[in-house]
Amino acid sequence: MSTFNNPKNTWNQRFAAEHYVFGEAPNAYLQAHAADLVPGTALAVADGEGRNGVWLAQQGLQVDAFDFSENAVRKALAMANRRQVTVNFVCHDWQSFDWKPAHYDNVVGVFFQFAAPEERTELFRRMGASLKPGGTLIVQGYTSRQLDFNTGGPGKLSHMYDEALMRDAFGHFDILDLRTYEAEISEGTGHHGMSGLLGLTARKPLATGGQWRRPEGS
Ligand SMILES: C[S@@+](CC[C@H](N)C(=O)[O-])C[C@H]1O[C@@H](n2cnc3c(N)ncnc32)[C@H](O)[C@@H]1O
Repeated sequence: MSTFNNPKNTWNQRFAAEHYVFGEAPNAYLQAHAADLVPGTALAVADGEGRNGVWLAQQGLQVDAFDFSENAVRKALAMANRRQVTVNFVCHDWQSFDWKPAHYDNVVGVFFQFAAPEERTELFRRMGASLKPGGTLIVQGYTSRQLDFNTGGPGKLSHMYDEALMRDAFGHFDILDLRTYEAEISEGTGHHGMSGLLGLTARKPLATGGQWRRPEGS
């Protein structure tokens, strides 16, 4: 993805297609961890054509979502309208998005491996900082195994995830699930076939050094 000379144009061209390039169903790892979502608000990072942001809204969450592609955001809004939910989709790159500190009950990032390692450190930091204490972080991405499968993703080793990277970035969180696995996925034409995957579900501690406690009333 970051190998593109002009990533925004390239993504806009991809998303100019009438069909939903990554399908209309939510990501399977996200869906499987629905029970870990905390009632309230959610941020969907680089949400593309909206399949995950819309699904989060269908779970009763108040959702903000951003992506830098106008075509993606247009299609995401259309999907939300069709499904009769409201999502606050905004068109921003991750650097210019208004990351509010300790604002969201959930932060979800699915296949957003456009960031090179140094940028990714900052992106992960902003994601963690925008979660409220007690909030849930869900990340789905590709591992280096994906370079053999070549069924989606940026195709660059330095952009791939592994468990050590996640523990490094979110080691201060309570890890509810961290797994490296292979699975057949079918997400539109964009992600299709056997894939090398990583899933992370983690909870931001209520206080530094403290154990997570379920927020009252949830
Ligand atoms: C592989 S797609 C995944 C989209 C969505 N998360 C999903 O799972 O359907 C990656 C997304 O990242 C977006 N993107 C790429 N670079 C970005 C950046 N610098 N800031 C914000 N979004 C970006 C693209 O427009 C695209 O929608």
